Amino acid sequence: MSNSIDEILKQPKLSKQDLINLLQTDKIDRNKIFTHAAKIKADYVGKKVYYRGLIEMSNICSKNCYYCGIRIDNKNTERYDISDSDILDAVKFAHENKYASVVLQAGEISSPKFTKRVSNLLKEIKGISNNELGITISLGEQPDEVYQEWFDSGAHRYLLRIESSNPDLYYKIHPKNEKHDFETRLDCLRSLQKTGYQTGTGVMIGLPFQTYDDLASDLIFMKDFDIDMCGMGPYLKHIDTPLYEHKDLLMPIDDRFTLTLKMIALLRIIMKDINIAAATALQAIDPIGREKAIKVGANIIMPNVTPGMYRDSYKLYENKPCTDEEATDCTNCMEMRIGITGDDIGYGEWGDSKHFAKRTSQS
Ligand code: 5AD
Ligand code: SF4
Ligand code: FES
Repeated sequence: MSNSIDEILKQPKLSKQDLINLLQTDKIDRNKIFTHAAKIKADYVGKKVYYRGLIEMSNICSKNCYYCGIRIDNKNTERYDISDSDILDAVKFAHENKYASVVLQAGEISSPKFTKRVSNLLKEIKGISNNELGITISLGEQPDEVYQEWFDSGAHRYLLRIESSNPDLYYKIHPKNEKHDFETRLDCLRSLQKTGYQTGTGVMIGLPFQTYDDLASDLIFMKDFDIDMCGMGPYLKHIDTPLYEHKDLLMPIDDRFTLTLKMIALLRIIMKDINIAAATALQAIDPIGREKAIKVGANIIMPNVTPGMYRDSYKLYENKPCTDEEATDCTNCMEMRIGITGDDIGYGEWGDSKHFAKRTSQS
């Protein structure tokens, strides 16, 4: 394919077969993809990285996803639920350090009590930051009314990964029951979009049973769904989960890493003005994994601001980085890291999805 890669990349629209071929490129060709994606990023969203201070509120989850270390049936995880005042301290840290946004993430819990608690937190965050902090939430599947209530309370971005756009694969990595229903996940994504959130989704890359066809379909799914943001990362095994049993089906970890970079670069090429996060899971494989993602198209990074004592317990996968650090350590470290990429840091800027602005001004 070497001769034609430049031609393929020049096309206004990449077909599914093009994407499948591009995902399988060797080193020389993949560097062409990366260079092309980097140029598109610079042209459309600029060489700037925006921070989202990540607060992992609680690792209590009602679900049982086969891949995830904090699934309800994993009794080897110590559960925690950070107090509101500790959460707000982390928020203050983010604000004082000019992280213009925070992300509240937790296992999936649906209850009137939890809904109220999050609403109050959102209002508090807006209050203590004089409305300056942008808020992304990642709190799973919820009824429409809850999405609305949280939107009205101040959240304006929502992340809900589809995990895989192929329902057959979805049910290989989730139990097939009412609580893990593919159609519900899709309905939730639609509901988020309708409510007015900047809507983000994403997938895991290198899952057992996953094919290149699946990954190309994931890219097309994100394009067709017209998402505003994406967070996707490599699948990493976790010994206390059912999917671990299929570890022999996995491609080597370095290949999963490279494939993730290709997915990021290709998504940047087909969705030029969205926000793409450099997933923390990349850093579990390569010490400068996130920086490499920034080089090939990602423009968002989520420095962990969760108080250090809880970090080790929010273990979705093995080798999670920064679990021994405190937020200040990550801030210093991040600055140096982004420096290496040659991008600027958008301190004090929300860095909202340009795609969202365009999408909503047209409708
Ligand atoms: N490897 C990689 N990513 C994982 N996630 C959960 N478990 C794993 C794992 N073992 C991701 C899922 C989920 C997000 C919060 O973390 O995609 O949506
Ligand atoms: Fe819960 Fe999310 Fe983990 Fe599934 S992936 S078990 S919903 S935290
Ligand atoms: Fe957390 Fe480097 S980013 S210690």
